[in-house]
Order: sequence, then structure tokens, then C-alpha cells
Amino acid sequence: MGSTSLNADDSEIRDSSNVSIPTSPLERVIGQPEAVKLAVVAAKQRRNLLLVGPPGIGKSMVAQALSFYIQRPQQEIRVVHNPQLPERPFFEIKTSEEILAEREESFSTEGYLSDPKQVPPSVAERLGYRCPKCGLYSAYTEAVCPHCSSQKSQQGPSQGPFGDVFNVIGAAFGVQNNQERVTSTRKVGDRSEIVVYERAGDLVRLLDERTLERRRKVEKKNPSKVIVPLERNPFVLATGASETELLGDVRHDPYGSHPQLGTLPYERVIAGSIHESHEGVLFIDEITHLGPLQRYILTAMQEKAFPISGRNPQSAGASVRVDRVPCDFILVAACNIQDLQSILSPLRSRILGNGYEVLMETSMQDTQPGRFKYMQFIAQEIAVDGRIPPMSVEAMVMVIEEGKRRARIVDKKENALTLRLREMGGLVRVSGDIAFIEGSKIIEPAHVTEALKLYLPVEEKIKKSYGNLQSAVSSESTLSQKPEEYFYTFTNNSEDPAYQ
Ligand SMILES: Nc1ncnc2c1ncn2[C@@H]1O[C@H](COP(=O)(O)OP(=O)(O)OP(=O)(O)O)[C@@H](O)[C@H]1O
Ligand SMILES: [Mg+2]
Repeated sequence: MGSTSLNADDSEIRDSSNVSIPTSPLERVIGQPEAVKLAVVAAKQRRNLLLVGPPGIGKSMVAQALSFYIQRPQQEIRVVHNPQLPERPFFEIKTSEEILAEREESFSTEGYLSDPKQVPPSVAERLGYRCPKCGLYSAYTEAVCPHCSSQKSQQGPSQGPFGDVFNVIGAAFGVQNNQERVTSTRKVGDRSEIVVYERAGDLVRLLDERTLERRRKVEKKNPSKVIVPLERNPFVLATGASETELLGDVRHDPYGSHPQLGTLPYERVIAGSIHESHEGVLFIDEITHLGPLQRYILTAMQEKAFPISGRNPQSAGASVRVDRVPCDFILVAACNIQDLQSILSPLRSRILGNGYEVLMETSMQDTQPGRFKYMQFIAQEIAVDGRIPPMSVEAMVMVIEEGKRRARIVDKKENALTLRLREMGGLVRVSGDIAFIEGSKIIEPAHVTEALKLYLPVEEKIKKSYGNLQSAVSSESTLSQKPEEYFYTFTNNSEDPAYQ
């Protein structure tokens, strides 16, 4: 062990369970001070962020943590039916206050609930709660009175040509013949007013004239559909998204909006990730994989709005469009260094014009604080995994030493610790699994030693058993039908044990 190795006596730390893990997600990111600092600025000032670096060093972690610093969304986006032109629904923005007011309004149209015994007996009979023969009450779902076994349904002038026969047959099949709603009058002071009684489960709902009036007003409003709800995750991952996922779509309707059979166009509108991240963060990992779709992101960022239309020309949704649906997101994009050239240059200039670019660190100095950070990382990995025991200080030092070895080989840095931490997390988990299988309550150095053997990337294992990759390839390719393919896959990763 080098001079910078941890001395267990120096600290309170006995094993990884004594290492404190910060609650703030950004503080859990190890060794990336610049990325963390700029993520906070980007969140608070609503700037874009481009994170550049190799896999597994915390780009997704930074992006996700950033969204914790974002203000909660204040707006809901809806699509509203357009009666004049159903294929051109409108969008509508509702603030949280407006939504609250609406909920109160709809509450005030709900009427009063009452026990069936409290409403006039004739109404209770017509709604199916009271037996006209014995006068006892039961659930309206019971077509036959459980007290006197007679038919509960009304027999009156509305009786059909089959008289009682239908009701008896119906009752046998559990079909009822009573009404869901009864309109009646009642006396209020010396005037009589209309009152509607409605079934509401075990209770009866009473709608007086004022409530009915409010209901009529609400029903007059054009119907709408919430496509981006107020309560939503401000972090939207759009990695590997298809065009429709990214930009939204209008679903196909086999009945082509037929007034009776089909669904109206507004009901079939679906928001894309760009809209779902309105007021939040749109995270696009490996942004260059979007290819030509990058230019839509560019437009969306410029306009802060993007239409939603049916994207499949064969679909009945193709004729539907909602114009200028808001999409005011901050873009957090990630890519590796090789792909930097493939980012659409106007898009990149947009990001830089209103944001920051960060080159992620691949290693950090091997110092005492650095080693404590590494221990924090190990403790985090164990806590997140949840299936493996804590790690002893000695075993943690071994992991740190492996991090140092990798910084030297992979990152070509002396006296440093690698920050390619996804792979280091793998080493922690393999060590933990070995300890767990053995029934050990703690991960010991022996488990890490074992894991290091198992954890070798397959190229290194090949080198161990075949001498080197080339000879492995040639000895195997004589057995193989397609030697070129084998050669190609191996030589691609061959020289470097860096398993990049
Ligand atoms: N800087 C870091 N601090 C703490 N843990 C890290 C860090 N980097 C990576 N990890 C661990 O590795 C995992 C993978 O990291 P993350 O997904 O953020 O990498 P990435 O850079 O987005 O990789 P990719 O380019 O493959 O998407 C994390 O969930 C975490 O467990
Ligand atoms: Mg990632």
C-alpha cells in the first residue's frame, strides 16, 4: 500500500456502514466539482448543459440530480376540442391556481348525498332502493327484494308488451328495470323547485336547481384532455427516443373520428418528451444518436413551442395538428468525446449561447480526501444495491488501490484514482455477491481478491489463458466458420486492457 493509503486507526470508520452518505443527490457525485457546480447554476438560471466524457463517470447522475434544483412545474397543458374544426384542437395552459378553482367548481356541481331512507319513498322505489311490496330497503343492484323475495322494479305505464314476464326473466339474469335518475319537485318555503335524484352507490345524490345550473355551465365547456399534467417529474429522459416519443403524436383511429364510433381527434393527441419536459429538464444521453432529429430539438428550443401532429402518414391521425404546444425545457445533453463533431453545429451553438459545456474528469488526485470520497462512493453503491453486506476498511482500501491501478493503465495518470465509476461499482457488487454467497456479514479483502479475478474483462481472461488476443483469435478461427468476424470483434478492443 502506498503512503496515501487510509489508516483505519485515524478515523471512526470501521466499515462502509460508518461512512456517511450525503442526502443531496449532487453531493453523491464524486470527483466532478465543475459539472456539479454548473449543474446547480443551470438548474437555477435555466441554462442548458452539455456533458462530455466517457461512459460510466456520472453524466446521467449529474443530469438527474440537477432536476432536484428545478422549480416545481406551475402549468398543466391540455388539448381542447375545437367544435368548428375537430382536426385542429387548441391547446390550453392552466396554472395551479386555475386548476384548484376548477376542482372547487366541479365539487360544487356534485350535489348532496343522502341516505335512500331520507328521500321520498316513491323516489327510492323508482331508483330501486325500496321494495314497493314490503317497503324495506336494499341495494339497488339487488333486483329481487331480499326481504320479501318479490320483484323490486317498477311496474307502471312504461310496462312493455310482455308485462311482468320481462321483469321476471330480467330479474333472473340480474337485469334491473329501475331508473338511474329521477326528476321530481320539492317544496322550498312556499315555492316548489325541481330536484334531481341520482343513484350514487349506496347513497342518493340530490341535485337542486343551483347545482343543476352549475352543471350545465360546466358541461357547456368544450371537452379537453390533459396531455402534460401539473404533477409530473421535471426530469424527462429522452435517450433513444423515437420521433413520435420525442415530438408527440396523434394516435390512429380505425373509425376515423366517426361521430358515434370513433374518438374525437383531441382525445388521440399524445405529448412528446419535449412537451413533457416543459418547465423541466430534457435529458438526452448520446445526443448524436438522434441524428437528423437534432434539428427538431433545435426548433423546439428556439420557439419554446412545437406542434403535435400525427406522424404516420397512413394513420387517421395524420390530418390532426395542434399548433404551438409549449415546450420550454432546459436541455441537458451528454455525449462522448469522439461524437462531439457529430452534434449539429447550430444546436451546439444554442447550448453554448445559453448554457455551459463540461468536460467530465476521468480521474482525480489520489489524496486522503480523495480516498474518503472513494469510500463514500463504495458506501453509496452498497446502499443502492441493497443486497450485499458492508465492506471492511481493508477491503475498501483494496478497491481504492484497484482504482489507482486503473487510473494508471486506462487514464494514463500517476497518483490518481479513476472516475470510471460504473465499472468500479461492478467490482464492489461482485465482491459483495461473493461475501453474500459465503454467508459473510462483511466484505473482506479475500472477497475483493476473488472478485478481481472474476471481474477481469473477457479480453484479459483470454490473454491469461491464450497468451494474447491475436493467438486466441487465430487458434479459434480455425474452428470457426467466419474467422473475419471474430477477428473484427476482438481486434477492435484488443491492444488496450483499458476495457473502454
Ligand atoms: N462521479 C460519480 N460519483 C458517484 N458515482 C458514480 C459516478 N460516476 C458513476 N457513478 C456510478 O456509476 C453509475 C453509472 O453512472 P452514470 O449513469 O451517471 O454514467 P454516465 O456517465 O451517464 O454513463 P453513460 O455514458 O454510459 O450513460 C452511477 O449510477 C453510479 O452508481
Ligand atoms: Mg448515462
